[in-house]
Amino acid sequence: MMGAAPRMSTADGLARDAFERYFNRPPRWIASAPGRVNLIGEYTDYNGGFVLPMAIEARTAIAAAPNESERIVLHSLALGETTTIDLSEPLTPEIRGRWTNYFRGVVAGFLEASIKPQGFDAVIRSDVPLGSGLSSSAALETSAATLLEAVTGVTLEPLQKVLLCQNAEHTFAGVPCGIMDPYISSQGRAGYAMLLDCRSNVPSWLALDDPAVTVMVINTNIKHQLSKSTYAMRRKACEEAARMLDVTTLREASMELLERHSGAMEEQALHCARHVIGEIARTERAAACIRRGDWAEFGQLLDASHDSLKEDFQVSCAELDAVVAAARGIGLAGGVYGARLTGGGFGGCVVALIESAKRTEIERAIASAYLRATGIKATIFVSRPAGGASVIEV
Ligand code: GLA
Repeated sequence: MMGAAPRMSTADGLARDAFERYFNRPPRWIASAPGRVNLIGEYTDYNGGFVLPMAIEARTAIAAAPNESERIVLHSLALGETTTIDLSEPLTPEIRGRWTNYFRGVVAGFLEASIKPQGFDAVIRSDVPLGSGLSSSAALETSAATLLEAVTGVTLEPLQKVLLCQNAEHTFAGVPCGIMDPYISSQGRAGYAMLLDCRSNVPSWLALDDPAVTVMVINTNIKHQLSKSTYAMRRKACEEAARMLDVTTLREASMELLERHSGAMEEQALHCARHVIGEIARTERAAACIRRGDWAEFGQLLDASHDSLKEDFQVSCAELDAVVAAARGIGLAGGVYGARLTGGGFGGCVVALIESAKRTEIERAIASAYLRATGIKATIFVSRPAGGASVIEV
């Protein structure tokens, strides 16, 4: 046995069964890593700010066993596709958008660090919804990195592993993402939300175990094409704003400083900076709310975050706004403290903090209001903060 979770979870068991069916033999290792929901602190990670995500119960598991070759044979259960990675050649990205790039990028990171795995067969099985702002890509990368640690017998330093996964996303998937997703996916702790200072990369763990409140995730089941190209554009606008304000990152800026320079700034840089500076402050306040169990104020911060992401950062869309409107319609009286889009935006999910006792009514009311407004069926689930990546040897 190795890793943090010696017992086989449901995700692990399903991956093992899938491996046995596909390769007709049992796996030797099963690695898994969770998706995440970001409670607050959106688009603050690459600006050196604070983020406040938690790992969710949905996981991406990879079951694997050695083969007698210099190749990784990788089967995705969800897509019904198999790909081969030749370990005797330098690895390059495949065509943009291919799921294989996440795994290839992680293998390339190991090879670059002169850690070479033996050949193996593997099956990926995930219940993290793809492309929904719940970090399915980081779950796959982190799960892959955790598997490769087991295969090679080399355990990376925690931050090295996070950075390796982030780099895979940059160089192989082509998204200049921040550090939040691989960090929470690999380090997540059951029962805790993570306040991560993305300037020092040091986390604080906040117990989120009050049974009276529940984190609800509402998937709009929409993904607009815009999301990837806009991500890079927004990042550029933030960097441009930091340059104009003469600070290293927007973490060092204040609303007063922004105000003083606003006349000389491009509209987009100004708006992006206003969101980021405000969001960093909201995230610190939200962490304080969790510490003292002030759910009403926490909910107000969620609402303010959504408004800022919609008006200033401009990453919302009609479907996300429809869910948030439905949640606000229910309001405190009906047990909803607050709601906001979570993750990159342009579709994907809304996160809401609700009164646990009113879950069923809230779920029903949001689903029907969303269906009425958009004609689309939402997928709704709740999750307690879950544990991070783990691996077992079977
Ligand atoms: C994506 C990125 C993260 C972060 C969020 C927005 O999930 O992977 O690094 O920037 O968007 O908060």
